[in-house]
This record gives sequence, structure tokens and C-alpha cells, in this order.
Amino acid sequence: MTDEGRLELIGVGKTYPGVRALDEVDFDLRPGEVHVLLGENGAGKSTLIKMMAGVHRSDTGEIRVDGRVVRFNGPEDAEKLGIATIHQEMALVPQLTVAENIYLGRPPRRFGVLDRAALRRDARAILDRMGLSLDVDAVVGELGVAQRQLVEIAKALSLNTRFLIMDEPTAVLSRSEVDRLFSLVRELTAQGVGVVFISHLLGEVAEIGDRVSVLRDGAKVGERPAGTDPDELVRLMVGRTVDAQYPPREAEIGEERLRVRGLTARGLLEDISFTARAGEVVGIGGLVGAGRTELVRALFGADRYDAGEVVVDGRRIPPGDIAAARAAGLALVPEDRGGQGLVLGASVAENLGMATLSDNTRGGLVDLGRQRERAAESVRRLGIRVAGLDQPALTLSGGNQQKIVIGKWLQAQPSVLILDEPTRGIDVGARAEIYELINELARAGNTVLVVSSDLPELLGLSDRVLVMADGRLRGELDGAEATQERVLALAVSADSEGNDDA
Ligand SMILES: Nc1ncnc2c1ncn2[C@@H]1O[C@H](COP(=O)(O)OP(=O)(O)OP(=O)(O)O)[C@@H](O)[C@H]1O
Ligand SMILES: [Mg+2]
Repeated sequence: MTDEGRLELIGVGKTYPGVRALDEVDFDLRPGEVHVLLGENGAGKSTLIKMMAGVHRSDTGEIRVDGRVVRFNGPEDAEKLGIATIHQEMALVPQLTVAENIYLGRPPRRFGVLDRAALRRDARAILDRMGLSLDVDAVVGELGVAQRQLVEIAKALSLNTRFLIMDEPTAVLSRSEVDRLFSLVRELTAQGVGVVFISHLLGEVAEIGDRVSVLRDGAKVGERPAGTDPDELVRLMVGRTVDAQYPPREAEIGEERLRVRGLTARGLLEDISFTARAGEVVGIGGLVGAGRTELVRALFGADRYDAGEVVVDGRRIPPGDIAAARAAGLALVPEDRGGQGLVLGASVAENLGMATLSDNTRGGLVDLGRQRERAAESVRRLGIRVAGLDQPALTLSGGNQQKIVIGKWLQAQPSVLILDEPTRGIDVGARAEIYELINELARAGNTVLVVSSDLPELLGLSDRVLVMADGRLRGELDGAEATQERVLALAVSADSEGNDDA
């Protein structure tokens, strides 16, 4: 077989202070295939990708492109060989426009001068190819996470790509955007491009993959065809079988804890009313863009609203007042956990302790022993892969950072906890543990609101499901009547009424 169009990593390894992130890993990518990388949070997937992208140098082994050994001194060297990478942490410049980000560092020039018209035109052409109606002049910092991810993908496509490497590209996309991404991937592989793809969703492996490599604790533990039974893949990843995904629970529903009346934010939310009671887990379903994140941000006081009220345990919370919301016992685990939930420079223990600071304080001093004890408990239960409690959050893998943000709020035992897409980017083993922690919180008489685009998760977790579309509440389904079909039917109901101009 010719080595033309092949990317190979042979015996590569990487040690960070205190962590052997990768050990003697072999990986290869053939032209026209999709090679999926699977592994738990912290298994070493992103580290492997960063070697292919020239971001990290491996301590051992070698990398070959087209059969020749290469040495990357930086990402530019990898890009020159046609390796385009979409990293897990988004790398866009928030102050620049969509078009400027797509052509960052290599804008089209005419007579040595930036050619703005060409920049916008070329960017538009790429977005059209992706079937996106995104405004090329929009400022990236003002876009939602899904749109920002799509700009990242457009940027990778604008390069002359022979190898496309994607680290959890679908984690923030809705189903229709995933469909579009996959059809683009198929177009590229038909042209001979090789694709590396990371996802925690096993359904996507069979759908888009050809081969799967599984990493566990920095070592490659197996390689299989993509059609392999998901249970076997999980076993390879976790080293054991994972039990029932949704732990059953006896809901003991008590007094009303949360009341939302006529909540309206012009152009975003329209007259939303519902209540939630002690012991209840209420799911919020709907398509991306339905207004779910806007709703929970408004409830928590992160965004202002124009009319309506939010009442927690009988106390009315003034609009846009996070301090008041928190004092009333409300907590929000945001969708964009990297940006909003974590202090990157602080340690694992400090981050985990942030929501319980006052609780862990005795006579004005933080009880560090107690803080560490609780942090250790969260690390154990959520399977957070850390070198130690003092490791800076910045150096954790993407999924482990998310576990910290979730763990911090679960520790705080808020009376009303709102989770926006709680298991996105979280590995299968830890998912079950998060579900169990949500149940414990509800069992203790608290209320949990869960926004999730994962329908089985939404249905498996919730006692009751509210469905939003187009900024409105379209319906409410009780446990037994909530099925995937019914949720979907309500989620697309705005279209059939033809009032999409909100
Ligand atoms: N700069 C760093 N300093 C120290 N340790 C690091 C650094 N970057 C990564 N690590 C560690 O290396 C290990 C592998 O991390 P990596 O990001 O490759 O995991 P991953 O498989 O991509 O996980 P996830 O699914 O959570 O994204 C983790 O234990 C992580 O904490
Ligand atoms: Mg990663």
C-alpha cells in the first residue's frame, strides 16, 4: 500500500507534571476514512490530537505524513501539510467578525492591501457550502456556542485540508447541524481527505466512523471497526460494564418551590409560566434556539427580562439580580461551562469549593480541611481525573473541567438547581453518576430543572417535561405521556403555526 495521504503516529507519548497523559500510542489515518477516537474524560484524546496539530511535541516516537517522518515546531508546520484541526477549546477571536475569524492570519490581499470584499465573499462561499445562513459580519463574541463551533468548522474547511481533525465538534450542535456536518465530512472523505473524529456519543461512532481506536488512561487499549457493539466499546473505554443509565427513583413531590409567571423578554421569551415543586425533576426540551438557555439565564438573573416574575420559596427575585437569585437558593450550571463556570487559574479544590464558601467558613476563615474533604468526595464520585486537588483547573481535560463545574453546584445543595445540557462532553461512566446525584438532590426535597437536547436523557431523568419552541412554552408532558415523538412534535410546533417572526 502506498503511504501517500497517510498520517501516522508511532509510539508517541506525553508527560505533564505529575501525569503520564499518553504512553506509547500508535495511531494512523488513511485517506478517505473517518477514524474515531474514544475514551473517558482525561484518557488522552485531546493530547493525541494536539500532537497531530503541532501544538504539542511528543516525548517519544515519531509522526509520519505520506510515509515521511516530520517534526512540527508549531501548528503552522502541521497546517502547511494540510492538517486542519478543530480543537475542543474554541480558538476564535471574540472581537472579530465571522469572516475575519475564518481567514485569521491569512486574509485575502490585493496589491498588498487587505481585500475586504474578497474576505467577505470567500467567507460567504464557505458558509454557503456548509448550508449556513450565518452573517459574515456578525461579531463572534455575540454568537451562541453552536454558531461559534460552526465558524470553527468553516475555518478548517477554508484551509487546503488533507487531514481534518475534530475534537468533539458535535458536542454543542443540534441534530440538524450534526447532519450537515456529517454530509460535509462524507463529501470530504469522498475526495480522499482523512478525518479524525472525537465524540462521547456512541451513536455517532457507527453513523460516521469507519474505524475506532479506544484510549484508556493514556494507553491505546483497542482498535475496532466502527460497527462494533457499543457495549463492547464501553467496556474497552471504562474497563467494566456500565449499569442502567437512568437510576430509577421514587419521586416524593412536595410543596411548590419555583413559580414563574408571564416571563417575557422582548424577541426572546414570550409569556412563560410554570411551577416546579420540591422533589421534582423538571426537564426542558426543545430544539436549539427554542429559548431554553435564554429562559434559564433569565430565571437565574443572568439576563434581564421585560415582564413577569420569578418566585423561589415564596420570595420574588428581582430581574437581573444574580445575587438575589443565589441568596434565594437558586443555582445555574451554564451551557458554556468553560467560559462561565470555572476559574481557570484556581485549583481543583478551590473551584469545587466556590459555591460552598460560606458553608465551609468558620469564624471568618475558610475551613480548608473541610473544603478539601468535600472536594475529594466530588472527585471520587464523578471520577474526575486529576493529579491532585491542587492541580490548576486550566490543565484538566475538557470533560473533567465540566465535571468540576457540575460538582461545585451539586455540593452546594441549592433548593432549585438548573442544569443546562449537564452531560455534554461527559463520558458514559460519569453520566450515570451525575444522574444519581441529581436524584439525591431531588430526594432531599430540592427542585431540579434540566435543559437537555438528548431526548433519552430528558425523558429518563424528568418527572415532567416542558417543551419550548420559538421562545414560548408549547406544552407540558407528564412522566408516562412523555415520549420522544411527543416532545419532538411540540418542539417543532412553532413552524406549523407560521409565527416565526418573534
Ligand atoms: N497542561 C497540562 N498540564 C498538566 N496536565 C495536563 C495538561 N493538559 C492535559 N493534562 C492532563 O492530561 C490528561 C489527558 O488529557 P486530555 O485533554 O488529552 O484528555 P481527553 O481524553 O481529551 O479528555 P476529555 O474527554 O475530557 O476532553 C488529563 O489527565 C489532563 O489533566
Ligand atoms: Mg479532550
